[in-house]
Amino acid sequence: MDEKSGGLAGITVGETAISTVGKKGKGLTYRGYSIEDLANHARFEEVAYLLIHGTLPTKVELNTYKKRLIQGQSLPIAICRVLEQLPVKTNPMDVLRTAVSTLGCLEPESLRHTAEFIADKLMSFCVSSLLYWYAFQTNDQHLTVISEQNSIAGHFLYLLQGHVPDAEFRKALDVSLILYAEHEFNASTFAARVCTSTESDFYSAIVAAIGTLRGPLHGGANEAAMKMINQYDDVPSAEAGTRLLLEQKAVVMGFGHRVYKESDPRTSIIKPWAKKLADRFGDPKKFLIAEAIERVMWDEKKIFANLDFYSALVYFYLGIPTSFFTPLFVISRLSGWTAHIREQRANNRLIRPLADYIGPDPRPYVGISERT
Ligand code: ACO
Repeated sequence: MDEKSGGLAGITVGETAISTVGKKGKGLTYRGYSIEDLANHARFEEVAYLLIHGTLPTKVELNTYKKRLIQGQSLPIAICRVLEQLPVKTNPMDVLRTAVSTLGCLEPESLRHTAEFIADKLMSFCVSSLLYWYAFQTNDQHLTVISEQNSIAGHFLYLLQGHVPDAEFRKALDVSLILYAEHEFNASTFAARVCTSTESDFYSAIVAAIGTLRGPLHGGANEAAMKMINQYDDVPSAEAGTRLLLEQKAVVMGFGHRVYKESDPRTSIIKPWAKKLADRFGDPKKFLIAEAIERVMWDEKKIFANLDFYSALVYFYLGIPTSFFTPLFVISRLSGWTAHIREQRANNRLIRPLADYIGPDPRPYVGISERT
């Protein structure tokens, strides 16, 4: 095998009309719109609609879409019962995977529950499931999950905080959801497409994607980055600790990227939000520690912070538990996954690559009594 193709690095495995990730000088675009324009001017719901349907919504379309998202906030009683059984120590990614899978048993994909219908439901449903489980396991509370908030960020913050969220906090979360929404053939999206290519159902593709996003080399990096930042008390200890990690040839979470080689265009959008929140709370310590880690990574190895690094800090300042960071990535990326599942279905062929065999040469079978 060509050394470069380990992990399929540098291998083009298909076509997409959904996003460009730093290709041909186009930077990161969703359906042709730059990530900078979308993060500065759009709301997450417009972006989700754009990804799934291919065009930005009109006012009427957006209002209808938001109404459907609000309808998705409710949880079937059977889902509540299942969530109540999941221990407090369950990884919240497993909670989401289980909730989606269970919904797939209750309301399987059908002519009535089309992929589009399920997709509209799942974003709000995942927020409600996560927060219902959390409230039940931590406070023994049967949380009312209908917030009537007409944004995903608003719904999430309302259920977490118990009141209508501050507009700036909602906006900060909204921007991070926009940045996380889509990224071409990343590992979780590819998993969703592989599953879809077998003509499996929508829920199965989403469950495959959630399981793939869970790992620390992909979505799990935002939680790992926060845990690393939390280890340091001040800038000198962060600098020394990062140098030590590099000396030990450790992977520093929230840095580097398979496709981007010089910078992650999403970092320059999310970092100012982390700074803004640090200033607003008069609590710059974590931000300064994060910047120190970023500085050492660049000075020593020319490795840049990716989206996960400063998103972690934004979530920290918003008071979001660290174990919810990757679930938030799921809630946003559901839009990108849905777009890819639809694109795969529209022009499907089974994804089934080959492998070079490197095992033993053909040999005779050995009976069990003759084995040593
Ligand atoms: N920390 C330390 N060194 C790193 C890092 C890092 N985060 N990322 C890359 N490197 C180094 C590698 O050690 C390697 O060095 P070498 O040539 O001296 O051996 C070189 O950079 C190339 O790295 P690869 O691992 O070959 O790059 P690959 O494309 O396979 O990995 C990946 C990309 C997995 C994202 C990697 O950078 C990584 O593990 N980062 C940390 C996890 C992370 O933040 N993931 C989030 C990705 S973005 C997202 O999901 C939103």
